[in-house]
Amino acid sequence: MPRMDLQETLSMKDNEVKSDLLAIDDLSERLSEIIDWAIRIKNDEEALFDFKPLDGMSVGSIYEKPSTRTRVSFEVGVNRLGGQPITLLAGDMQLGKSETIADTAAVLSRYMDCITYRCFGHDDVMELAKHSTVPVINALSDLHHPCQAAADMMTIVENLDRVNGHVAWVGDGNNVLHDLVLGCSILGLDIKYATPEGFEPDEEVIARALKIAEESGSKIFGCNSPEEAVTDAGVIYADVFVSMGEESMDRKMGSFDGFQINENLVSNADEDYLFMHCLPAHRGEEVTDEVIDSRNSVVFDQAENRMWAQMSVLTLLCNEAAWQAYWDLR
Ligand code: CP
Ligand code: NVA
Repeated sequence: MPRMDLQETLSMKDNEVKSDLLAIDDLSERLSEIIDWAIRIKNDEEALFDFKPLDGMSVGSIYEKPSTRTRVSFEVGVNRLGGQPITLLAGDMQLGKSETIADTAAVLSRYMDCITYRCFGHDDVMELAKHSTVPVINALSDLHHPCQAAADMMTIVENLDRVNGHVAWVGDGNNVLHDLVLGCSILGLDIKYATPEGFEPDEEVIARALKIAEESGSKIFGCNSPEEAVTDAGVIYADVFVSMGEESMDRKMGSFDGFQINENLVSNADEDYLFMHCLPAHRGEEVTDEVIDSRNSVVFDQAENRMWAQMSVLTLLCNEAAWQAYWDLR
């Protein structure tokens, strides 16, 4: 199909049913296609000259917490797809002060074609999605970070030829781990996570991942030993020990002795292991400079892939016909 024909697909947009992305398993078996689409457009220098699937659309992004990667990758990504990104800092909005989430959702749905939301409680993004008539994307909640997982899975797929071993997580049983486990279970990757006692991941999320793994064949294993998790690993993943919103939990830090990813710990992994981190990294806490700056580290590829993976998701949710037309060009 000639590239200009892609524009004609804009008129085929079907808004009757909206889909949301609140956790990575909302994408279920389409995750693999979404990643392949993102990898294709990342390597297709000409595509975005005339492929503007979000032409005439606006994407609003609400932030209750700080952000560097999510905010910039959404703003640039929406712009590259021909849409208008609008960043809304929650502190400047009526939301949470004189207006409910439900009313905010109804109002923004009249202006926007998609809403992204970074919030504290996961219930809040569920509430926004329930009352919105346009797709809602979770841009990080206390329970899930699906945009991060989409980019993480994309980064692993890009490097599959050098990944020789399971995915290992060392750290807190947090939002990033939840979607990493779900993402691995969808793609059939094995994952071993080590968390301190009392900081294990959410049982309901792990139950969902185990259910998906029954189909995909992925093996999911949790323990409290960093050495056990990283031994023979092909990927080692780290995140901060204290997440946004938990700053008052000072005592939490004391539970992570032995959970730093350093040269001694990674010596147990495959020598070509990938070091991954969602960033921002607290260097000297969960990871040393030697590891994050080593040849094994792909942390800045992960950060870049946030944009490409989100462009794939945005196109799919806002203009599936255009997403499909680009896919059919492969
Ligand atoms: N990884 C991530 O979500 O980064 P930001 O908090 O900077 O958006
Ligand atoms: N677990 C971290 C991820 C930051 C991108 C947090 O929620 O603060």
